[in-house]
Amino acid sequence: MKKASEAVVKKYQRYVMDNYVRTPLVITKGKGSRVWDAEGKQYLDLFPGWGVSGLGHGHRWVMRALRGQSMRLAHVANNYYHPTQAKAAEALIKHSFEGKVFFCNSGAEAVETAIKIARKWGKGRHEIIVMDRAFHGRTMGALSATQAKYQEGFEPVVPGFVRVPFGDLAAVKAALTPNTVAVLTEPIQGEGGINVPEKSFLTGLRKLCDDKNLLLMFDEVQTGMGRTGEWFAFQHFGVTPDVMMLAKALGGGFPVGAVVAGDKVAAVLTPGTHATTFGGSGLASACVLAVIEAIEKEKLLARVKLSSGRAFRRLEKLKAESSIIREVRGVGFMIGIDLSVDGRPIVEAARQRGLLVNCTQGRVIRMLPALTITRVELDRAITILSDVIKEHAETRQSAKR
Ligand SMILES: Cc1ncc(COP(=O)(O)O)c(C=O)c1O
Repeated sequence: MKKASEAVVKKYQRYVMDNYVRTPLVITKGKGSRVWDAEGKQYLDLFPGWGVSGLGHGHRWVMRALRGQSMRLAHVANNYYHPTQAKAAEALIKHSFEGKVFFCNSGAEAVETAIKIARKWGKGRHEIIVMDRAFHGRTMGALSATQAKYQEGFEPVVPGFVRVPFGDLAAVKAALTPNTVAVLTEPIQGEGGINVPEKSFLTGLRKLCDDKNLLLMFDEVQTGMGRTGEWFAFQHFGVTPDVMMLAKALGGGFPVGAVVAGDKVAAVLTPGTHATTFGGSGLASACVLAVIEAIEKEKLLARVKLSSGRAFRRLEKLKAESSIIREVRGVGFMIGIDLSVDGRPIVEAARQRGLLVNCTQGRVIRMLPALTITRVELDRAITILSDVIKEHAETRQSAKR
């Protein structure tokens, strides 16, 4: 590591809490799907901001909205009205389903809100069925809905969450009790390894929730805002939830979360029952609007569908040629390569060659490219990754010989 980067790392070691596994890379600049380190080396970023920079780094419409709004008014407290939040809510409803929006600041906060909505709506029923390998965030309520390994050391968790295998409708039915009020799931699991369920699982959940008077709550924090080639993953499966959580790419880099709920469900949050100081600020709302406009006007959903088809075809071919790929999974720009070996050396080797990707669950290479990535950039990224995977497989083979 060079001097400029070393100085930054040293300050982190001295002053920043050590709760992240950090790659030794100091990023100082970003544009689109590219970032630069402190020494000026350029990288292709196929996991921009853990999915936050869904339009790529520094998208010009988001930057323009941020600049414009910051000159007028950064924040309005939620006991007043302001036009930008109204427009952002209208735009979200237009693209999702009939209902109302609550703005907050993060994915976990959106999940907390959904849990509170379910409990209030249930009038005494309080159990929420959640999934194995789910990830919903790190605050206590969201953590309690998340897979058990993230809860270690933080027990006791919040009671009332019943966990079943993802994709197993019979298990959901078997978990029902008179206290059940909702089913909470990601429509496609992200952190859990890019797990795409059968459509029948989600349609089955919808029917079950209708029959038993339960809320169907989709955590679209990772899958939402065009990630799958539709505005939201629920549209991909044709299954509309009662409650949907959003964050990550919602603000194009600006921290903002949201919950969308059907009118009757949203009505349980009466004045005084829930709040957040920063939620839906002028700046956040302006960024949400800019993101939605960019997805519409730049026809990014069509672009995702087209480019991802090509990417998946190339990755399937790579799988056929490689002994260490078990499965290629995903939809749109949510891409997972399930390996039979530890994925971390591959992430590191890719980084050495100027490509940033992620590894989840120890052996699933995860990519969440920006919706704006060019065909050339995506092709280049897949070429680098293919080379790295092939070389890694060959090295393992020769070590065995
Ligand atoms: C599906 C899902 N829900 C919730 C969260 C938590 O979001 P945040 O980190 O903004 O609290 C995440 C974060 O990765 C996520 O992927």
